[in-house]
Amino acid sequence: MSDHTTYNDKVVRQFAVMTLVWAIVGMAVGVLIAAQLAWPVLNFDIPWLTFGRLRPLHTNAVIFAFGGSALFAASYYVVQRTCHVRLISDKLAAFTFWGWQAIIVAAAITLPLGFSQSKEYAELEWPIDIAIAVVWVSYAIVFFGTIMKRKTPHIYVANWFFAALIIAVTMLHVVNSIEIPVSVLKSYPVYAGVQDAMVQWWYGHNAVGFFLTAGFLGIMYYFIPKQANRPIYSYRLSIVHFWALVFTYIWAGPHHLHYTALPDWVQSLGMVFSLILLAPSWGGMINGVMTLSGAWEKLRTDPVIRFLIVSVSFYGMATFEGPMMAIKTVNSLSHYTDWTIGHVHSGALGWNALVSFGMLYFLFPRLYGRELYSLKLVEIHFWTATIGIVLYASSMWVSGIMQGLMWRAVNTDGTLTYSFVESVEAMHPFYIVRLTGGALFLFGTLVMAYNMWKTAVGAPSIETAIPEPAH
Ligand code: HEM
Ligand code: HEM
Repeated sequence: MSDHTTYNDKVVRQFAVMTLVWAIVGMAVGVLIAAQLAWPVLNFDIPWLTFGRLRPLHTNAVIFAFGGSALFAASYYVVQRTCHVRLISDKLAAFTFWGWQAIIVAAAITLPLGFSQSKEYAELEWPIDIAIAVVWVSYAIVFFGTIMKRKTPHIYVANWFFAALIIAVTMLHVVNSIEIPVSVLKSYPVYAGVQDAMVQWWYGHNAVGFFLTAGFLGIMYYFIPKQANRPIYSYRLSIVHFWALVFTYIWAGPHHLHYTALPDWVQSLGMVFSLILLAPSWGGMINGVMTLSGAWEKLRTDPVIRFLIVSVSFYGMATFEGPMMAIKTVNSLSHYTDWTIGHVHSGALGWNALVSFGMLYFLFPRLYGRELYSLKLVEIHFWTATIGIVLYASSMWVSGIMQGLMWRAVNTDGTLTYSFVESVEAMHPFYIVRLTGGALFLFGTLVMAYNMWKTAVGAPSIETAIPEPAH
Protein backbone atom coordinates (compact mmCIF):
# COMPACT_ATOMS: atom_id res chain seq x y z
CA MET A 1 0.00 0.00 0.00
CA SER A 2 1.30 3.43 -0.91
CA ASP A 3 2.19 6.01 1.68
CA HIS A 4 -0.99 7.56 3.10
CA THR A 5 0.42 11.10 2.87
CA THR A 6 0.39 10.88 -0.93
CA TYR A 7 -3.42 10.77 -1.01
CA ASN A 8 -5.64 13.82 -1.37
CA ASP A 9 -7.65 13.46 1.82
CA LYS A 10 -8.46 17.15 2.11
CA VAL A 11 -11.31 16.89 -0.38
CA VAL A 12 -12.54 13.67 1.28
CA ARG A 13 -12.57 15.43 4.65
CA GLN A 14 -14.48 18.39 3.19
CA PHE A 15 -17.13 16.16 1.63
CA ALA A 16 -17.37 14.02 4.81
CA VAL A 17 -18.02 17.10 6.97
CA MET A 18 -20.62 18.42 4.53
CA THR A 19 -22.31 15.00 4.47
CA LEU A 20 -22.97 15.52 8.18
CA VAL A 21 -24.09 19.11 7.75
CA TRP A 22 -26.52 18.34 4.91
CA ALA A 23 -27.85 15.27 6.73
CA ILE A 24 -28.91 17.51 9.59
CA VAL A 25 -30.34 20.26 7.35
CA GLY A 26 -32.20 17.85 5.03
CA MET A 27 -33.64 15.77 7.85
CA ALA A 28 -34.64 18.86 9.85
CA VAL A 29 -36.65 20.04 6.83
CA GLY A 30 -38.09 16.48 6.65
CA VAL A 31 -39.21 16.74 10.26
CA LEU A 32 -40.75 20.16 9.60
CA ILE A 33 -42.76 18.96 6.59
CA ALA A 34 -43.82 15.84 8.51
CA ALA A 35 -45.13 18.18 11.23
CA GLN A 36 -46.88 20.31 8.59
CA LEU A 37 -48.70 17.25 7.28
CA ALA A 38 -49.99 16.59 10.81
CA TRP A 39 -50.68 20.29 11.59
CA PRO A 40 -50.92 22.40 8.39
CA VAL A 41 -50.98 25.57 10.51
CA LEU A 42 -47.19 25.17 10.75
CA ASN A 43 -47.03 26.70 7.25
CA PHE A 44 -47.45 30.01 9.14
CA ASP A 45 -49.07 31.39 5.95
CA ILE A 46 -45.61 32.27 4.65
CA PRO A 47 -45.28 31.25 0.96
CA TRP A 48 -41.67 30.05 1.19
CA LEU A 49 -42.49 27.88 4.22
CA THR A 50 -45.36 26.06 2.51
CA PHE A 51 -45.24 22.29 2.11
CA GLY A 52 -45.18 22.52 -1.70
CA ARG A 53 -41.91 24.45 -1.65
CA LEU A 54 -40.23 22.75 1.31
CA ARG A 55 -40.89 19.20 0.10
CA PRO A 56 -38.58 19.53 -2.94
CA LEU A 57 -36.09 21.29 -0.68
CA HIS A 58 -36.15 18.20 1.57
CA THR A 59 -35.76 15.70 -1.29
CA ASN A 60 -32.97 17.68 -2.95
CA ALA A 61 -31.17 18.23 0.36
CA VAL A 62 -31.25 14.61 1.48
CA ILE A 63 -30.63 12.97 -1.91
CA PHE A 64 -28.20 15.31 -3.64
CA ALA A 65 -26.65 17.29 -0.78
CA PHE A 66 -26.40 14.59 1.92
CA GLY A 67 -26.32 11.51 -0.36
CA GLY A 68 -24.24 13.28 -3.02
CA SER A 69 -21.60 14.50 -0.54
CA ALA A 70 -21.40 10.97 0.94
CA LEU A 71 -20.85 9.53 -2.55
CA PHE A 72 -18.14 12.07 -3.43
CA ALA A 73 -16.36 11.42 -0.11
CA ALA A 74 -16.58 7.65 -0.54
CA SER A 75 -15.52 7.50 -4.17
CA TYR A 76 -12.56 9.87 -3.73
CA TYR A 77 -11.39 7.95 -0.65
CA VAL A 78 -11.86 4.51 -2.20
CA VAL A 79 -10.48 5.18 -5.68
CA GLN A 80 -7.17 6.39 -4.20
CA ARG A 81 -6.81 3.44 -1.80
CA THR A 82 -7.77 0.77 -4.32
CA CYS A 83 -5.73 2.22 -7.21
CA HIS A 84 -2.75 3.18 -5.00
CA VAL A 85 -2.52 6.66 -6.54
CA ARG A 86 -3.44 10.21 -5.63
CA LEU A 87 -6.40 11.86 -7.42
CA ILE A 88 -5.16 13.15 -10.77
CA SER A 89 -5.89 16.80 -9.99
CA ASP A 90 -6.26 18.53 -6.62
CA LYS A 91 -7.60 21.66 -8.33
CA LEU A 92 -10.32 19.85 -10.25
CA ALA A 93 -11.26 17.83 -7.14
CA ALA A 94 -11.54 21.11 -5.18
CA PHE A 95 -13.66 22.52 -8.01
CA THR A 96 -16.08 19.58 -7.68
CA PHE A 97 -16.36 20.25 -3.93
CA TRP A 98 -17.00 23.99 -4.15
CA GLY A 99 -19.14 23.59 -7.29
CA TRP A 100 -21.38 20.97 -5.67
CA GLN A 101 -21.79 23.06 -2.51
CA ALA A 102 -22.63 26.16 -4.58
CA ILE A 103 -25.29 24.18 -6.45
CA ILE A 104 -26.80 23.06 -3.14
CA VAL A 105 -26.91 26.64 -1.87
CA ALA A 106 -28.53 27.75 -5.14
CA ALA A 107 -31.15 25.01 -4.69
CA ALA A 108 -31.77 26.03 -1.09
CA ILE A 109 -32.46 29.61 -2.22
CA THR A 110 -34.46 29.05 -5.42
CA LEU A 111 -36.76 26.21 -4.26
CA PRO A 112 -38.34 28.06 -1.29
CA LEU A 113 -38.71 31.11 -3.57
CA GLY A 114 -40.84 28.95 -5.84
CA PHE A 115 -38.56 28.54 -8.88
CA SER A 116 -39.15 24.99 -10.06
CA GLN A 117 -39.53 22.90 -13.20
CA SER A 118 -42.02 20.73 -11.28
CA LYS A 119 -40.21 17.56 -12.33
CA GLU A 120 -39.64 15.43 -9.23
CA TYR A 121 -35.94 15.20 -8.24
CA ALA A 122 -35.18 17.45 -11.26
CA GLU A 123 -36.85 20.64 -10.01
CA LEU A 124 -33.86 22.96 -10.36
CA GLU A 125 -34.02 25.57 -13.10
CA TRP A 126 -31.85 25.58 -16.21
CA PRO A 127 -28.81 27.66 -15.07
CA ILE A 128 -28.39 25.27 -12.11
CA ASP A 129 -28.87 22.28 -14.44
CA ILE A 130 -25.96 23.50 -16.55
CA ALA A 131 -23.81 23.94 -13.43
CA ILE A 132 -24.67 20.37 -12.34
CA ALA A 133 -23.56 19.03 -15.74
CA VAL A 134 -20.23 20.94 -15.55
CA VAL A 135 -19.44 19.76 -12.00
CA TRP A 136 -20.49 16.18 -12.75
CA VAL A 137 -18.30 15.97 -15.86
CA SER A 138 -15.38 17.34 -13.82
CA TYR A 139 -16.07 14.59 -11.27
CA ALA A 140 -15.96 12.04 -14.11
CA ILE A 141 -12.58 13.41 -15.25
CA VAL A 142 -11.11 13.19 -11.72
CA PHE A 143 -12.49 9.71 -11.09
CA PHE A 144 -11.72 8.06 -14.44
CA GLY A 145 -8.41 9.90 -14.75
CA THR A 146 -7.38 8.40 -11.41
CA ILE A 147 -8.52 4.93 -12.48
CA MET A 148 -6.41 5.28 -15.65
CA LYS A 149 -3.30 6.14 -13.63
CA ARG A 150 -3.78 3.22 -11.23
CA LYS A 151 -0.85 1.12 -10.06
CA THR A 152 -2.94 -1.99 -9.50
CA PRO A 153 -3.80 -4.48 -12.24
CA HIS A 154 -7.46 -4.79 -11.21
CA ILE A 155 -10.21 -2.25 -10.79
CA TYR A 156 -11.74 -3.10 -7.41
CA VAL A 157 -15.48 -3.77 -7.64
CA ALA A 158 -16.49 -0.72 -5.55
CA ASN A 159 -15.09 1.43 -8.37
CA TRP A 160 -17.28 -0.34 -10.93
CA PHE A 161 -20.32 0.83 -9.01
CA PHE A 162 -18.99 4.39 -8.69
CA ALA A 163 -18.25 4.34 -12.44
CA ALA A 164 -21.84 3.23 -13.17
CA LEU A 165 -23.12 6.03 -10.95
CA ILE A 166 -21.05 8.66 -12.77
CA ILE A 167 -21.84 7.49 -16.32
CA ALA A 168 -25.56 6.85 -15.77
CA VAL A 169 -26.21 10.10 -13.90
CA THR A 170 -24.52 12.11 -16.67
CA MET A 171 -26.81 10.50 -19.23
CA LEU A 172 -29.97 10.80 -17.11
CA HIS A 173 -29.39 14.39 -16.08
CA VAL A 174 -28.52 15.63 -19.56
CA VAL A 175 -31.40 13.88 -21.35
CA ASN A 176 -34.05 14.77 -18.75
CA SER A 177 -32.89 18.40 -18.55
CA ILE A 178 -33.16 19.31 -22.24
CA GLU A 179 -35.32 22.41 -21.90
CA ILE A 180 -36.02 25.75 -23.54
CA PRO A 181 -35.34 28.76 -21.30
CA VAL A 182 -37.90 31.56 -21.49
CA SER A 183 -36.30 33.74 -18.81
CA VAL A 184 -33.38 33.64 -16.38
CA LEU A 185 -35.20 31.29 -14.01
CA LYS A 186 -37.94 29.71 -16.11
CA SER A 187 -37.77 27.02 -18.77
CA TYR A 188 -39.98 24.41 -20.39
CA PRO A 189 -38.95 20.84 -21.29
CA VAL A 190 -38.68 19.95 -24.97
CA TYR A 191 -40.79 16.85 -24.33
CA ALA A 192 -44.54 16.97 -24.09
CA GLY A 193 -47.39 14.83 -22.79
CA VAL A 194 -46.73 11.19 -22.13
CA GLN A 195 -43.21 11.38 -23.62
CA ASP A 196 -42.36 13.99 -21.01
CA ALA A 197 -43.73 11.71 -18.27
CA MET A 198 -41.77 8.72 -19.56
CA VAL A 199 -38.47 10.62 -19.87
CA GLN A 200 -39.02 12.03 -16.36
CA TRP A 201 -39.65 8.61 -14.78
CA TRP A 202 -36.88 6.97 -16.76
CA TYR A 203 -34.76 9.62 -15.04
CA GLY A 204 -36.53 9.34 -11.67
CA HIS A 205 -36.33 5.61 -11.37
CA ASN A 206 -32.71 5.48 -12.47
CA ALA A 207 -31.85 8.23 -10.01
CA VAL A 208 -32.94 5.60 -7.48
CA GLY A 209 -31.08 2.89 -9.40
CA PHE A 210 -27.78 4.64 -9.91
CA PHE A 211 -27.63 7.44 -7.34
CA LEU A 212 -29.34 5.77 -4.36
CA THR A 213 -28.37 2.20 -5.27
CA ALA A 214 -25.25 1.72 -7.43
CA GLY A 215 -23.26 4.47 -5.70
CA PHE A 216 -24.20 3.23 -2.23
CA LEU A 217 -23.35 -0.35 -3.24
CA GLY A 218 -19.89 1.05 -4.00
CA ILE A 219 -19.79 2.22 -0.37
CA MET A 220 -20.93 -1.21 0.81
CA TYR A 221 -18.30 -3.04 -1.25
CA TYR A 222 -15.42 -1.12 0.29
CA PHE A 223 -16.43 -0.30 3.84
CA ILE A 224 -18.02 -3.62 4.93
CA PRO A 225 -14.94 -5.73 4.08
CA LYS A 226 -12.69 -3.07 5.65
CA GLN A 227 -14.61 -2.71 8.88
CA ALA A 228 -15.16 -6.47 9.17
CA ASN A 229 -11.53 -7.10 8.18
CA ARG A 230 -12.63 -9.89 5.86
CA PRO A 231 -12.63 -10.31 2.08
CA ILE A 232 -15.89 -9.80 0.22
CA TYR A 233 -17.98 -13.00 0.26
CA SER A 234 -17.94 -13.61 -3.50
CA TYR A 235 -16.09 -11.57 -6.11
CA ARG A 236 -17.82 -13.56 -8.85
CA LEU A 237 -21.26 -12.72 -7.46
CA SER A 238 -20.31 -9.05 -7.36
CA ILE A 239 -19.52 -9.06 -11.09
CA VAL A 240 -22.62 -11.04 -12.08
CA HIS A 241 -25.00 -8.91 -10.03
CA PHE A 242 -23.31 -5.69 -11.17
CA TRP A 243 -24.01 -6.34 -14.86
CA ALA A 244 -27.48 -7.73 -14.19
CA LEU A 245 -28.33 -4.70 -12.06
CA VAL A 246 -27.19 -2.02 -14.51
CA PHE A 247 -28.85 -3.79 -17.42
CA THR A 248 -32.17 -4.33 -15.66
CA TYR A 249 -32.63 -1.00 -13.83
CA ILE A 250 -32.72 1.09 -16.97
CA TRP A 251 -35.98 -0.59 -18.17
CA ALA A 252 -38.02 -0.45 -14.96
CA GLY A 253 -39.07 3.26 -14.96
CA PRO A 254 -42.60 2.70 -16.38
CA HIS A 255 -43.71 1.19 -13.03
CA HIS A 256 -44.12 4.83 -11.91
CA LEU A 257 -46.73 5.35 -14.63
CA HIS A 258 -49.12 2.43 -14.19
CA TYR A 259 -52.71 3.11 -15.31
CA THR A 260 -51.74 6.32 -17.10
CA ALA A 261 -51.77 7.31 -20.78
CA LEU A 262 -48.52 5.36 -21.23
CA PRO A 263 -49.14 2.44 -23.65
CA ASP A 264 -50.12 -0.69 -21.76
CA TRP A 265 -47.27 -2.79 -23.12
CA VAL A 266 -44.71 -0.27 -21.82
CA GLN A 267 -46.28 -0.49 -18.35
CA SER A 268 -46.09 -4.30 -18.48
CA LEU A 269 -42.47 -4.13 -19.64
CA GLY A 270 -41.63 -1.92 -16.65
CA MET A 271 -43.42 -4.32 -14.32
CA VAL A 272 -41.59 -7.38 -15.64
CA PHE A 273 -38.16 -5.74 -15.44
CA SER A 274 -38.97 -4.60 -11.89
CA LEU A 275 -39.72 -8.18 -10.89
CA ILE A 276 -36.48 -9.39 -12.50
CA LEU A 277 -34.65 -6.66 -10.56
CA LEU A 278 -35.22 -8.54 -7.32
CA ALA A 279 -32.51 -11.06 -8.27
CA PRO A 280 -29.54 -8.72 -8.91
CA SER A 281 -30.59 -6.56 -5.95
CA TRP A 282 -30.56 -9.52 -3.62
CA GLY A 283 -27.25 -10.66 -5.16
CA GLY A 284 -25.73 -7.48 -3.73
CA MET A 285 -27.54 -7.81 -0.42
CA ILE A 286 -26.38 -11.41 0.04
CA ASN A 287 -22.81 -10.49 -0.88
CA GLY A 288 -22.76 -7.71 1.72
CA VAL A 289 -24.35 -9.66 4.56
CA MET A 290 -22.42 -12.88 3.90
CA THR A 291 -19.11 -11.03 4.08
CA LEU A 292 -19.67 -11.35 7.81
CA SER A 293 -20.16 -15.11 7.52
CA GLY A 294 -18.16 -16.83 10.26
CA ALA A 295 -17.72 -13.56 12.16
CA TRP A 296 -21.29 -12.88 13.22
CA GLU A 297 -20.14 -12.01 16.75
CA LYS A 298 -18.92 -8.68 15.31
CA LEU A 299 -22.58 -7.65 15.14
CA ARG A 300 -22.63 -7.75 18.93
CA THR A 301 -19.21 -6.24 19.55
CA ASP A 302 -18.84 -3.63 16.82
CA PRO A 303 -21.62 -1.01 16.55
CA VAL A 304 -20.10 0.36 13.33
CA ILE A 305 -20.44 -2.97 11.52
CA ARG A 306 -24.00 -3.13 12.89
CA PHE A 307 -24.85 0.09 11.01
CA LEU A 308 -23.40 -1.35 7.83
CA ILE A 309 -25.03 -4.77 8.02
CA VAL A 310 -28.43 -3.49 9.12
CA SER A 311 -28.34 -1.01 6.22
CA VAL A 312 -27.83 -3.87 3.78
CA SER A 313 -30.76 -5.72 5.38
CA PHE A 314 -32.97 -2.67 4.77
CA TYR A 315 -31.68 -2.60 1.20
CA GLY A 316 -32.89 -6.20 0.89
CA MET A 317 -36.28 -5.24 2.32
CA ALA A 318 -36.79 -2.21 0.08
CA THR A 319 -35.78 -4.16 -3.01
CA PHE A 320 -38.26 -6.90 -2.15
CA GLU A 321 -41.05 -4.42 -1.54
CA GLY A 322 -40.32 -2.41 -4.73
CA PRO A 323 -40.88 -5.29 -7.16
CA MET A 324 -44.10 -6.18 -5.31
CA MET A 325 -45.33 -2.58 -5.65
CA ALA A 326 -44.46 -2.67 -9.34
CA ILE A 327 -47.06 -5.41 -9.94
CA LYS A 328 -49.95 -3.52 -11.53
CA THR A 329 -52.69 -4.86 -9.27
CA VAL A 330 -50.65 -4.09 -6.13
CA ASN A 331 -49.78 -0.64 -7.51
CA SER A 332 -53.48 0.11 -8.04
CA LEU A 333 -53.73 0.03 -4.24
CA SER A 334 -50.35 1.54 -3.26
CA HIS A 335 -50.01 4.37 -5.80
CA TYR A 336 -50.80 7.88 -4.47
CA THR A 337 -50.77 6.55 -0.89
CA ASP A 338 -48.38 6.69 2.05
CA TRP A 339 -47.29 3.14 1.24
CA THR A 340 -44.96 4.70 -1.37
CA ILE A 341 -43.64 7.08 1.32
CA GLY A 342 -43.04 4.09 3.64
CA HIS A 343 -41.13 2.29 0.85
CA VAL A 344 -39.07 5.39 0.06
CA HIS A 345 -37.99 5.91 3.66
CA SER A 346 -37.27 2.28 4.48
CA GLY A 347 -34.85 2.56 1.54
CA ALA A 348 -33.66 6.11 2.24
CA LEU A 349 -33.28 5.94 6.02
CA GLY A 350 -32.64 2.21 6.37
CA TRP A 351 -30.26 1.81 3.46
CA ASN A 352 -28.82 5.13 2.23
CA ALA A 353 -28.55 6.91 5.56
CA LEU A 354 -27.40 3.96 7.70
CA VAL A 355 -24.70 2.87 5.23
CA SER A 356 -23.47 6.48 5.03
CA PHE A 357 -23.37 6.71 8.84
CA GLY A 358 -21.37 3.46 9.03
CA MET A 359 -18.95 4.92 6.48
CA LEU A 360 -18.58 8.20 8.42
CA TYR A 361 -17.78 6.29 11.63
CA PHE A 362 -15.06 4.48 9.69
CA LEU A 363 -13.75 7.61 7.96
CA PHE A 364 -13.61 10.31 10.63
CA PRO A 365 -11.04 8.64 12.90
CA ARG A 366 -8.83 7.88 9.90
CA LEU A 367 -9.21 11.27 8.22
CA TYR A 368 -8.37 13.11 11.44
CA GLY A 369 -5.83 10.60 12.78
CA ARG A 370 -7.71 10.23 16.06
CA GLU A 371 -9.54 7.52 17.90
CA LEU A 372 -13.32 7.44 17.66
CA TYR A 373 -14.53 9.61 20.56
CA SER A 374 -17.26 7.32 21.85
CA LEU A 375 -18.51 3.87 20.88
CA LYS A 376 -21.28 4.26 23.45
CA LEU A 377 -22.67 7.21 21.46
CA VAL A 378 -22.51 5.07 18.29
CA GLU A 379 -24.63 2.52 20.14
CA ILE A 380 -27.16 5.19 21.18
CA HIS A 381 -27.28 6.49 17.61
CA PHE A 382 -27.85 2.99 16.27
CA TRP A 383 -30.87 2.34 18.47
CA THR A 384 -32.51 5.76 18.07
CA ALA A 385 -32.08 5.51 14.29
CA THR A 386 -33.44 1.97 14.14
CA ILE A 387 -36.47 2.73 16.31
CA GLY A 388 -37.02 5.90 14.24
CA ILE A 389 -37.08 3.93 10.98
CA VAL A 390 -39.43 1.31 12.37
CA LEU A 391 -41.88 4.01 13.55
CA TYR A 392 -41.61 5.90 10.24
CA ALA A 393 -42.00 2.92 7.93
CA SER A 394 -44.64 0.97 9.84
CA SER A 395 -46.89 4.03 10.35
CA MET A 396 -46.71 4.81 6.63
CA TRP A 397 -47.44 1.22 5.64
CA VAL A 398 -50.54 1.10 7.83
CA SER A 399 -51.67 4.57 6.78
CA GLY A 400 -51.02 3.82 3.09
CA ILE A 401 -52.91 0.54 2.95
CA MET A 402 -55.75 2.10 4.94
CA GLN A 403 -55.93 5.05 2.51
CA GLY A 404 -55.92 2.74 -0.51
CA LEU A 405 -58.69 0.56 0.93
CA MET A 406 -60.81 3.55 2.01
CA TRP A 407 -60.57 5.19 -1.41
CA ARG A 408 -61.72 2.08 -3.24
CA ALA A 409 -64.47 1.01 -0.81
CA VAL A 410 -67.92 1.22 -2.45
CA ASN A 411 -71.43 0.69 -1.14
CA THR A 412 -73.82 -1.77 -2.75
CA ASP A 413 -75.40 1.07 -4.72
CA GLY A 414 -72.01 1.94 -6.22
CA THR A 415 -71.40 5.15 -4.26
CA LEU A 416 -68.14 5.70 -2.36
CA THR A 417 -68.19 4.52 1.27
CA TYR A 418 -65.84 7.25 2.49
CA SER A 419 -65.36 10.85 1.51
CA PHE A 420 -61.76 11.94 0.86
CA VAL A 421 -61.70 14.03 4.01
CA GLU A 422 -62.61 10.99 6.11
CA SER A 423 -59.45 9.27 4.85
CA VAL A 424 -57.43 12.40 5.71
CA GLU A 425 -58.82 12.33 9.26
CA ALA A 426 -57.99 8.65 9.61
CA MET A 427 -54.35 9.31 8.60
CA HIS A 428 -53.77 11.93 11.30
CA PRO A 429 -52.56 9.64 14.15
CA PHE A 430 -50.14 7.90 11.79
CA TYR A 431 -48.70 11.26 10.75
CA ILE A 432 -47.88 11.95 14.38
CA VAL A 433 -46.17 8.55 14.72
CA ARG A 434 -44.16 9.27 11.53
CA LEU A 435 -43.15 12.64 12.93
CA THR A 436 -41.97 10.97 16.15
CA GLY A 437 -39.95 8.42 14.17
CA GLY A 438 -38.40 11.15 12.01
CA ALA A 439 -37.54 13.27 15.05
CA LEU A 440 -35.84 10.28 16.70
CA PHE A 441 -33.86 9.64 13.53
CA LEU A 442 -32.77 13.28 13.41
CA PHE A 443 -31.82 13.15 17.10
CA GLY A 444 -29.56 10.15 16.38
CA THR A 445 -27.91 12.10 13.56
CA LEU A 446 -27.21 14.99 15.95
CA VAL A 447 -25.63 12.53 18.39
CA MET A 448 -23.38 11.31 15.57
CA ALA A 449 -22.44 14.88 14.62
CA TYR A 450 -21.39 15.55 18.23
CA ASN A 451 -19.38 12.33 18.30
CA MET A 452 -17.65 13.17 15.02
CA TRP A 453 -16.91 16.72 16.12
CA LYS A 454 -15.36 15.43 19.35
CA THR A 455 -13.42 12.89 17.32
CA ALA A 456 -12.09 15.56 14.96
CA VAL A 457 -11.15 18.25 17.48
CA GLY A 458 -11.76 17.27 21.09
CA ALA A 459 -10.66 13.75 21.89
CA PRO A 460 -6.99 13.00 22.52
CA SER A 461 -5.44 12.07 19.24
CA ILE A 462 -3.44 8.92 18.76
CA GLU A 463 0.07 9.54 17.39
CA THR A 464 -0.31 8.38 13.83
CA ALA A 465 -3.25 7.65 11.61
CA ILE A 466 -4.87 4.34 12.49
CA PRO A 467 -3.45 1.85 9.98
CA GLU A 468 -5.92 0.43 7.49
CA PRO A 469 -6.86 -3.16 8.40
CA ALA A 470 -5.57 -5.69 5.86
CA HIS A 471 -8.01 -6.26 3.05
C1 HEM B 1 -35.61 12.67 9.69
C2 HEM B 1 -35.76 12.04 8.61
C3 HEM B 1 -36.81 12.28 7.56
C4 HEM B 1 -38.12 12.74 7.68
C5 HEM B 1 -38.87 13.12 8.94
C6 HEM B 1 -38.67 12.79 6.34
C7 HEM B 1 -39.96 13.22 6.04
C8 HEM B 1 -40.50 13.28 4.78
C9 HEM B 1 -41.84 13.73 4.46
C10 HEM B 1 -42.85 14.23 5.47
C11 HEM B 1 -42.01 13.62 3.12
C12 HEM B 1 -43.24 14.01 2.32
C13 HEM B 1 -44.21 12.86 2.28
C14 HEM B 1 -45.46 13.15 1.53
O1 HEM B 1 -45.46 13.92 0.56
O2 HEM B 1 -46.52 12.57 1.91
C15 HEM B 1 -40.79 13.09 2.57
C16 HEM B 1 -40.59 12.79 1.24
C17 HEM B 1 -39.42 12.22 0.74
N1 HEM B 1 -38.26 11.97 1.45
FE1 HEM B 1 -37.99 12.16 3.44
N2 HEM B 1 -37.72 12.34 5.45
C18 HEM B 1 -36.57 12.04 6.16
C19 HEM B 1 -35.38 11.57 5.64
C20 HEM B 1 -35.15 11.31 4.31
C21 HEM B 1 -33.90 10.82 3.76
C22 HEM B 1 -32.61 10.57 4.54
C23 HEM B 1 -34.10 10.66 2.41
C24 HEM B 1 -33.15 10.18 1.30
C25 HEM B 1 -31.92 9.79 1.41
C26 HEM B 1 -35.47 11.03 2.12
C27 HEM B 1 -36.05 11.01 0.87
C28 HEM B 1 -37.35 11.43 0.58
C29 HEM B 1 -37.94 11.31 -0.74
C30 HEM B 1 -37.27 10.72 -1.99
C31 HEM B 1 -39.25 11.81 -0.63
C32 HEM B 1 -40.29 11.89 -1.76
C33 HEM B 1 -41.09 10.59 -1.78
C34 HEM B 1 -42.10 10.46 -2.88
O3 HEM B 1 -42.33 11.42 -3.63
O4 HEM B 1 -42.72 9.40 -3.03
N3 HEM B 1 -36.07 11.44 3.29
N4 HEM B 1 -39.87 12.89 3.60
C1 HEM C 1 -35.73 -3.71 -6.93
C2 HEM C 1 -35.73 -2.51 -6.50
C3 HEM C 1 -36.91 -1.57 -6.47
C4 HEM C 1 -38.08 -1.56 -7.21
C5 HEM C 1 -38.51 -2.53 -8.30
C6 HEM C 1 -38.83 -0.41 -6.78
C7 HEM C 1 -40.11 -0.11 -7.22
C8 HEM C 1 -40.84 0.98 -6.84
C9 HEM C 1 -42.24 1.24 -7.13
C10 HEM C 1 -43.15 0.29 -7.89
C11 HEM C 1 -42.56 2.44 -6.63
C12 HEM C 1 -43.93 3.11 -6.64
C13 HEM C 1 -44.21 3.86 -7.88
C14 HEM C 1 -45.55 4.55 -7.81
O1 HEM C 1 -46.56 3.91 -7.49
O2 HEM C 1 -45.59 5.76 -8.08
C15 HEM C 1 -41.35 2.99 -6.04
C16 HEM C 1 -41.25 4.25 -5.52
C17 HEM C 1 -40.04 4.75 -5.03
N1 HEM C 1 -38.90 4.03 -4.71
FE1 HEM C 1 -38.58 2.12 -5.14
N2 HEM C 1 -38.13 0.26 -5.81
C18 HEM C 1 -36.95 -0.41 -5.60
C19 HEM C 1 -35.97 -0.07 -4.70
C20 HEM C 1 -35.83 1.18 -4.12
C21 HEM C 1 -34.72 1.60 -3.29
C22 HEM C 1 -33.54 0.74 -2.84
C23 HEM C 1 -34.92 2.91 -3.02
C24 HEM C 1 -33.96 3.75 -2.22
C25 HEM C 1 -34.19 4.67 -1.47
C26 HEM C 1 -36.17 3.31 -3.68
C27 HEM C 1 -36.71 4.58 -3.73
C28 HEM C 1 -37.95 4.91 -4.23
C29 HEM C 1 -38.45 6.25 -4.30
C30 HEM C 1 -37.71 7.52 -3.89
C31 HEM C 1 -39.78 6.16 -4.80
C32 HEM C 1 -40.78 7.31 -4.94
C33 HEM C 1 -40.79 7.85 -6.30
C34 HEM C 1 -41.79 8.96 -6.40
O3 HEM C 1 -41.41 10.09 -6.12
O4 HEM C 1 -42.96 8.71 -6.72
N3 HEM C 1 -36.69 2.22 -4.31
N4 HEM C 1 -40.33 2.07 -6.15
